[in-house]
Amino acid sequence: MSSKSFDILKTIKHLTKSTDDAFYCICNLSDIYEKYKMWTSVFPDIKPYYAVKCNDDLTALKLLASLGIGFDCASKLEIKKILSLNVDPNKIIYANPNKFIADLQYAVNEEVSLMTFDNECELYKIQKIYPRARLVLRIKSEAIRANYPMGNKFGCDPIEEAPQLLKLAKALNLNVIGISFHVGSGCQEPAAYGRAIANARKVYDYAQTLGYNLSILDIGGGYPGATGTSIVEIADIVKRALNAYFKDVDIQVIAEPGTFFVQSAYTLACNIYALKTLTRKEIDGTKVPHRMYFINDGIFGSFNCVMSYQEEVYPITLDEYPHSKQVSSSIWGPTCDGLDRVVKEISLPEMAIGDWFVFENMGAYTIPLITSFNGFSKPKIYYVIDQNIRSSVKNSDLSIINVCGIEIINEGDTSALRGFLKLYHSII
Ligand SMILES: Cc1ncc(COP(=O)(O)O)c(C=O)c1O
Repeated sequence: MSSKSFDILKTIKHLTKSTDDAFYCICNLSDIYEKYKMWTSVFPDIKPYYAVKCNDDLTALKLLASLGIGFDCASKLEIKKILSLNVDPNKIIYANPNKFIADLQYAVNEEVSLMTFDNECELYKIQKIYPRARLVLRIKSEAIRANYPMGNKFGCDPIEEAPQLLKLAKALNLNVIGISFHVGSGCQEPAAYGRAIANARKVYDYAQTLGYNLSILDIGGGYPGATGTSIVEIADIVKRALNAYFKDVDIQVIAEPGTFFVQSAYTLACNIYALKTLTRKEIDGTKVPHRMYFINDGIFGSFNCVMSYQEEVYPITLDEYPHSKQVSSSIWGPTCDGLDRVVKEISLPEMAIGDWFVFENMGAYTIPLITSFNGFSKPKIYYVIDQNIRSSVKNSDLSIINVCGIEIINEGDTSALRGFLKLYHSII
């Protein structure tokens, strides 16, 4: 176990003793900051526009905004949230190729002018509502393997459709300034980025024949964000492809990472509030015990990915059970829906009501997907900062709880974030 997760487990242990809340999510702000540093060291010339849809937790957004990065927004509400943090509208890309008319009107009013399109209807819509918009053509160029492919819904074919769309944009006197792609979330084929950049160059060249001098290449999302993963291989491929296909032109490269920034920062702690022990009959007729654990978060909550994308999640037991035998077990969510199963089959020690499971890497596509189905609430989020800045934290205006050497910031405390950043910058 990494020292990071050890510290987080200590924090959770403390919280489970000292508060009445049923379940928690710990957000390690230092982890997000480390990701930012990682991005800027690996991609110094590629400006990230964080994809808000991935996790719209306000405190994380505040931290990212304070770091000066841009944002990829999909709707009026996301744009509104980002603008409320005093982010310059020019740092937003409205990266939804199909926009509601009312949302587009809002973008006009707020001067969020950079936006994507991938079809004719959208061009007519934009011409009517926002003819001055700065348009980015989203092409389809996907990874062979991705956890969440997107090409069935978004992007135009770079060879067949892109030229037609560019011609129409020209005829409508629209301002196309860039090309974007998304190889798929959880990209399992780094080479896909190289292919997509090569495709983008073909579109760039065609656009030039129409008189468009494109100035933005948006290389989308898809970068891994779980603890222990790396973006170095992708970065090497991206750099090589940019060198091969875009070296001769003056183009600003941007990206829309979501998962990368937040996945590893969030750790969820769930409590066992009910359990059942069954006897199961194996194929050979032998009878084996099976325990069903019921926890207070499920697939209609933070574990939505288990239902929507058949993802597997791996629980850690908060306590150790050295004297317990391992038993075949399953873990279930709290709703009355029979589908609400978080883990299908796992060998676990015999645990009791009141014991805790911890799930790491819960920051991407979890919080925004939580529903109120069956009347269950969201986990309370606690924000933590690593121990190495503890002594300096004491002197700042942070409102904090000190837990085992980890400082926990009060939720929603902006001054805390400002203090944290000031401090972090002075240390690094
Ligand atoms: C347009 C767009 N950009 C960026 C992202 C973020 O992708 P990821 O979380 O894989 O980085 C998404 C995810 O759905 C997306 O739709």
